[in-house]
Amino acid sequence: MNGRRKRVVGNWKMNGSLTANAALLDELLPQLAVLEGVELAVCPPFPYLAQVAALLEGSGVALGAQNLNVATKGAFTGEVGAEMLKELGCRYVLVGHSERRSLYGECDEVVAEKFAVALAAGLLPVLCVGETQAQRRQGQTEQVVSAQLQAVLRRSGVQGLAAGLIAYEPVWAIGTGETASPEQAQAVHRHIRVLLGEFDRERAEATAILYGGSVKADNAQALFAQPDIDGGLIGGASLEAAAFAAICQAASQQQERPQP
Ligand code: 13P
Repeated sequence: MNGRRKRVVGNWKMNGSLTANAALLDELLPQLAVLEGVELAVCPPFPYLAQVAALLEGSGVALGAQNLNVATKGAFTGEVGAEMLKELGCRYVLVGHSERRSLYGECDEVVAEKFAVALAAGLLPVLCVGETQAQRRQGQTEQVVSAQLQAVLRRSGVQGLAAGLIAYEPVWAIGTGETASPEQAQAVHRHIRVLLGEFDRERAEATAILYGGSVKADNAQALFAQPDIDGGLIGGASLEAAAFAAICQAASQQQERPQP
């Protein structure tokens, strides 16, 4: 056993409604309640955090947000600060999702600052990293992922980075139905752990590294069976109760599987 608990985090992105959220959780939570040895969370859009916090109460499923601002409060129209997320019951916050990086211009330094601010507020930041299709074709995967990690290492140190989570999400696999093969994903996860290990081996071994990018009920088990894949960050399939429950179950079963 490597001692790391499997985790599955659902990223609802900009989806849901009061009615749809209630229906989804109504169907989902009883199926998750029977799972053991796995840490679960869902990240709804900001306006639904309070509703979802209430619905999750007593379920053991944690609440997360999809983004935060680096400022605590003030004249930042349209933005949301870490303390607000804490007050609403968030435990997790996604940082540097590829959609934030590509659509809203978040660079490595801003992402690193958000990571540090989330950590300082007592949230668990999930640092998303990953290469584009073009970068992979040019053999730059490890270089790109390393640069994204280095920015956080410079800002927060290895102890900071290891206090949060990492999600490897190859951009070409997000929402495309094209998943990284378990071997492709494992290779990058290993690279990430080796890079952290150059700073602190013990912390590197303890860091949770999730895989994201078209994880579905039928590929979750093979991905989660890889030694350096500690669970998943799930987009589309987290909006379907049956699919998300099956993915969470796959993680739970892995946890129980004796490992060499
Ligand atoms: P999909 O599971 O829809 O590919 O999305 C992955 C993702 O971006 C999770 O953050």
